[in-house]
This record gives sequence, C-alpha cells and structure tokens, in this order.
Amino acid sequence: MKLLVTGGAGYVGSVCAARLVEAGHEVTVVDDLTTGHADAVPPGATFVEGDLAEVAPTLLADGFDGVLHFAAKSLVGESMQDPAKYWNGNVLTSLQLLDAMREHGTPRLVFSSTAATYGEPDQVPILETAPTRPTNTYGATKLAIDHAITSYAKAHGLAAVSLRYFNVAGAYGPYGERHTTETHLIPIVLQVAMGTREALSIYGDDYPTPDGTCVRDYIHVLDLAEAHLLALSHTVEGEHQIYNLGTGTGFSNREVVETCRAVTGHPIPATYAPRRAGDPATLVASADAAAEKLGWKPERTDLHTIVSDAWEFTRSRA
Ligand code: UFG
Repeated sequence: MKLLVTGGAGYVGSVCAARLVEAGHEVTVVDDLTTGHADAVPPGATFVEGDLAEVAPTLLADGFDGVLHFAAKSLVGESMQDPAKYWNGNVLTSLQLLDAMREHGTPRLVFSSTAATYGEPDQVPILETAPTRPTNTYGATKLAIDHAITSYAKAHGLAAVSLRYFNVAGAYGPYGERHTTETHLIPIVLQVAMGTREALSIYGDDYPTPDGTCVRDYIHVLDLAEAHLLALSHTVEGEHQIYNLGTGTGFSNREVVETCRAVTGHPIPATYAPRRAGDPATLVASADAAAEKLGWKPERTDLHTIVSDAWEFTRSRA
C-alpha cells in the first residue's frame, strides 16, 4: 500500500515506518522534527519535513491508500501546563488531517490513541468498553480525536482503527526512545545506568498495589508495530474500531527498577518521592479484543527482554 506515516521520525512512528518498509509498503514519512530525529526515518521511506496540517493536503492529493497518524504532543505533565499546545497540536492538527483525507478520498486511518483516555480505571484489566474519563489534557485530546474519527467513519465511510497504547518500551535495532525531555520510567532509569543522570526518584510508594508503587503494562515497541500492520489490513469502510494494546501483565515501578539493575549490572540509586499528579495506581490492558479481531499476539512480553532491547539501544547511541 502507499502509506503516509505522520510522526515517522519519532519513537513509535520510526519503528512502525521501518516495519512497514520491510513489509513492502511504499512509505512517506512526514514529521516537523520538533521531537523526532531525521536519522530515525528508515531508509527506503520518503521523508517530508514540515508541519503536518500544512503539507498533508498537498501530499494526500497524490493519492494514498492510508495514513498512520503518530504525530502528537505526548508529555502528560506539559499538557497540564500548556493545554493550548495540546488542543491545537493534537486535536486541531488531526481535524485538518481528517479533512485533507476526506477531500482526497484517502480510505484508511490507523491512529495512535492511548490508555490515558481511560483515566483512573474502575476495573483492571481495562476493556475497551471501560468509561473514558481522562485525568490529563493529553488523554483528553486523544479521546477528542477518537470521537472525531468515529464521526468521520460514520458520516464519510472512513475505515479507521485506533490503537490505545499502554506503556511502550524497548527498541528495534537503531530505532528507539530518545526524547530531549524524558519523562518515561525505563529510559530515565537507563540514563542513571549510563551515568548521564545521577539518581532516580520513584514517584509514590503508598499506592494500593502489592509493593506500594504504581503498576504498568509494558508493551514492546516491535509488538506494537506488528499490531499496526495487522490493523491496517483489518480496516473496514465506515467503521471505527478501537483496540487496547498491552500484554495484560503489570509490573510495578520497583520491579522495573530491579529488572533494570539486573540487565545493566548498575546499582541504580533510587529514592522515593511524592506521587506524581495524575498517575493512576494500576494500568493494565485487556488486549483480548486485539487478539480476537486482529489476530495480534505480543511476543516480547518478558520485561527482561524489553529492558535489554532498550539498554542495547541506549548504549549504541552513547
Ligand atoms: N516514574 C517514576 N519516576 C520517574 C518517571 C516515572 O517513578 O522518573 C513512574 C511514574 O510515576 C509512573 C510510572 O513510572 O508511576 C510510569 O511512568 P511513565 O511516565 O513511564 O508512563 P505513564 O504510565 O505515566 O505514561 C504512559 C505513556 C503516556 C500515556 C500513559 C497512559 O507514556 O503517554 O501511559 O496512562 F498517556
């Protein structure tokens, strides 16, 4: 297929773009490089640097079979400080993309949604039917886009799949996580192991979880990419399908740090700090729907493997 990958110079976008190219698709990446890196665009993809809302109409006029829309602002904390950046950068831009797709008859969309659309869950594992009550602006903007996609599918026949990522981690060869402003647990812990950060603060040890620290569902970025390829081939005209992507297993922050110690051989000094605002205690996905409807089965579910791949990537970039 001829595919437009927005945000394909970012972490998840670059891994997916690489897998799409390997699978034989014709890939054009568009990225403004505000958080992405030009050298993360895989060889074999065409790269267009620019503002998505500005360039999408011209690009799509060329006739594409589908769009994979990764480009987004994705820092939860920042979204609370500067909501306009998120409502404009995520919602407005996505609406402009949807309109450009409609105008040029682009039939398919795979959208990067998030577990943050659910907020604090009543029940775990979280099903796609769970209430959506985001606790931060980032999650609210992604949910708003999901609603817009549903309406466009119903009204205009768009074939769409939203994938709600839980905690993405790991790397795929030269493609991995390298944010200038890093807020995610595993890369921060690995920075300590690399010696580029002095110590780690674990936010909160008084959560209602087995060891008092938050529990998250870590999904390997390569398993996530495979889900995108499957989603692409399961789109249905006029339908907006929504799937959670996680492994169904939770690891506590303490377990993550211990695994990082085992993988890196570094003591990784850590102290407990107050809770971070907006952090739910436990986020674990039910990914049964993705298994049943897309035939997706995550294969790199072992935390040791996930951290080892991230560590290899971190060291290769040092
Ligand atoms: N954490 C620490 N210390 C740090 C960084 C993180 O203790 O220095 C903790 C957090 O408080 C949280 C856990 O590690 O308990 C995981 O935090 P991350 O920031 O790595 O990930 P989140 O679970 O907050 O966020 C992820 C995605 C978001 C998405 C969210 C859905 O990165 O994009 O899941 O809830 F919105």
